[in-house]
Amino acid sequence: MKKVGIIGVGEYLPEKILTNADLEKIVDTSDEWITTRTGIKERHVAAKGQAASDLALPASIQALKDAKINPEDLDLIVVATITGDMPFPSVAAILQDKLGAKKAACFDLSAACAGFVYGISVAQQFLACGTYKNALVVGVEVLTSVTDWQDRNTCVLFGDGAGAVVLTEVKEGGIISTYLGCDGSKVGILNLPAGGSRLPASAETVKNRQHFLKMQGNELFKIAVNTMTKAAEVVLAQAKMTFADIDLIIPHQANARIIMAVAKKLGIPEERVYLNIERCGNMSSASTVTALCEAVREGKVKRGDVILLDAFGAGLVWGACIIKW
Ligand code: COA
Repeated sequence: MKKVGIIGVGEYLPEKILTNADLEKIVDTSDEWITTRTGIKERHVAAKGQAASDLALPASIQALKDAKINPEDLDLIVVATITGDMPFPSVAAILQDKLGAKKAACFDLSAACAGFVYGISVAQQFLACGTYKNALVVGVEVLTSVTDWQDRNTCVLFGDGAGAVVLTEVKEGGIISTYLGCDGSKVGILNLPAGGSRLPASAETVKNRQHFLKMQGNELFKIAVNTMTKAAEVVLAQAKMTFADIDLIIPHQANARIIMAVAKKLGIPEERVYLNIERCGNMSSASTVTALCEAVREGKVKRGDVILLDAFGAGLVWGACIIKW
C-alpha cells in the first residue's frame, strides 16, 4: 500500500458575519449565554443565492494552488456535506465543472460533522491501493439554509464555510491511522425531518417547520464527549501511539465545552487543542477541515508534526485520524 498525505490546503468563509449581538435581536438569547454555553462569538453566513459549491470553489482553488497541481490532474473529488446545492446531483459534480477537473470521478458523502474525516479516509483507500493518484476532499456547509431562526436552541450554534485538501502519495509521513464509527439507533436526536423520501416537501411540512435542523442538544452533549474521547483512544491504539506523541488535536467544533472536556479526559493540555469555534460556530462537515487549514496557515502545524482529527455528529457518526505532516 502507498503512503498517502495532504499536500495542499484551502478554506473559504463567506464575508457576512453574524455576531451574538445580532442574534439577540432575532431570538430571546444573550451574548453571555451563547459564549459561556458554547464558546461561540460569531459565525459566517453565506449570501443569498450562495450555495455549497460556491463556497467549495474558492477553497478548492486555494488547495490546488497550495498543492501545485492543476484541476485536470485530479482523479477524484469527494465532497462531504449535508447541505448540498440541491438533493441531486452532487456538489462534487457541480464543483468538477466549475474547476474544470474533467477526468475526476465525483461523489458526495453524508456523514454530517464527521464528514471530512470520513472523506479523507475514503479517498485514502483509492490512493493507497493505486486506483487514483490525486484526490480533492472538501468539507462544505451552508447550514444557515436549514437553520430555524425562530429556535434559539439551535440558531445560535451554526455557521457556513468550506475547507479543502489535496491528497496524494507521499514519501514520508502522511495518514497514519483512521477510525470510523456509527450508532444508527439515535437518528432522532439530530436530524432534518422533511425533504427526503420519508417526508417529501409539502405545504404541511413547511408549515410545521420540518425543513429545519432539529437537535436535542443536552442529550447529545455527554454522548459527544464520551464518543470523541473513545475515538481518539482507538485511533491512537491502532497507530501504537500515545497522547504524548500528538502535537495538536484538531477536533470538530460543536461546542468549546465538549472539546475541553474531551481534552481533559485525554490529558491533552489546552494549548495543544485548536479552536476556531469562537469565530465560526459549528459548520458540520466544514468545521474540522477549516480548522486544519487555519492551523496550517497560522504555522501551528509544521512539517513532522503529528496531528489528531476527532469528529462526531448526526447519525450518530464519528471519525478520528492521525496524520504526520
Ligand atoms: N439563549 C438563551 N437560553 C437558551 C438558549 C439560547 N440560545 N438555548 C437554550 N436556552 C435555554 C433552554 O431553554 C434551557 O432553559 P430551561 O432550563 O429554562 O429549560 C437552558 O437554556 C438550558 O438548555 P440546555 O439545552 O440544557 O443547555 P446546554 O447547556 O445543554 O447547552 C447546547 C445547549 C446545544 C449548547 C449543548 O447542549 C450542546 O452543545 N450540545 C451538543 C451539540 C452537539 O454535540 N451536536 C452534535 C455535533 S453537531
